[in-house]
Amino acid sequence: LSQENQSILSANEWLTKLYHHLLRYTKDGKEGYSYFKERGVSDESIDLFQLGFAPNVKDFTAEFLDKKGFHKQLLVKAGLVTLQEDNSVTDRFRGRVIFPIRNHLGKTVAFGGRSLAEQEPKYLNSSESELFQKGKLLYNFDLAKKHIRKESEVIIFEGYMDVISAYQAEVKNVVATLGTSLTEQQAKLLKRYVDTVILCYDADRAGIEATYKAANLLRQVGCYVKIANLHDNMDPDNFIKQHGSEAFKKEVIQASSTFISFYMRYLKKDFNLSLEGDRIKYIEKVLNQLAVIESPVEREYYLRELSNEYNISLDTLTDEIVTLREKKG
Ligand code: UTP
Ligand code: MN
Ligand code: MN
Ligand code: MN
Ligand code: MN
Repeated sequence: LSQENQSILSANEWLTKLYHHLLRYTKDGKEGYSYFKERGVSDESIDLFQLGFAPNVKDFTAEFLDKKGFHKQLLVKAGLVTLQEDNSVTDRFRGRVIFPIRNHLGKTVAFGGRSLAEQEPKYLNSSESELFQKGKLLYNFDLAKKHIRKESEVIIFEGYMDVISAYQAEVKNVVATLGTSLTEQQAKLLKRYVDTVILCYDADRAGIEATYKAANLLRQVGCYVKIANLHDNMDPDNFIKQHGSEAFKKEVIQASSTFISFYMRYLKKDFNLSLEGDRIKYIEKVLNQLAVIESPVEREYYLRELSNEYNISLDTLTDEIVTLREKKG
């Protein structure tokens, strides 16, 4: 690690502690503390995830770190402050609650800041740097690792709050991609620890599209993919708040569907299934996916489902699969 990066890590560590302390124990951070309380985050979670608050003061962070001997230039480089035209600096995260982003060793390599009111952007992250490449790390991987190993399964969420809520609900083999797009590097990293990955993205349009993409990536690197059972624009954090942790475990995680079953639903959006032509195209596309399934039992299971739903004999569908499998060699 370069001298400079070591200094940045050290500045980040000071700030993690400062923001957390302000939120937890001082009047200056009360706004942030109340925010997390209203969202049902326990003191224990606030401490575990080192959640904090950055006061809405232009150069609070810069002043504090200046006293600790960090140069302005370094703070700009670390993405903690932005340089103004008059050469003064402005705290990047001022007025926001803070989520320290830890690497696999538990070191804070970046921060995420969420606005308290719904002003845009809702979340602001540190800029990308040598230390922080969003596509290479997974939020909470350091804490989740031993649980991921123990369960031989990992659950992937979109956001900070999903991870924190799940953890608080005693579901601990959880990480987040900090947005919707999973990268190949993240997929490969997870493959080293587990065979099975449960995707639990938000059940909105963006989340569903991202689920499809992430599932394909994960399958390409050899993971067995399941899709959590969330609907109606819910996200995992909302669901846990509304229905509790037992319901989350049973109805969302344990009730995860296979990729194929997700795909059969997902694909319907491209077709108007009341039209005969579309129905046939849809069935052909599904059969193409079913043809690559190795287990005959699993193949037959979905073929029966298609057969029942579209009133085509199982024999016909089976013939078609045999032909497709021969073609694929
Ligand atoms: P969501 O918009 O689903 O956020 O984005 P959320 O976590 O559910 O937000 P709230 O706090 O409950 O309303 C999922 C994740 O995408 C990243 C954040 O990491 C967020 O947790 N994101 C989202 C950003 O980086 N920037 C944004 O403007 C929005
Ligand atoms: Mn603490
Ligand atoms: Mn979302
Ligand atoms: Mn969300
Ligand atoms: Mn949310």
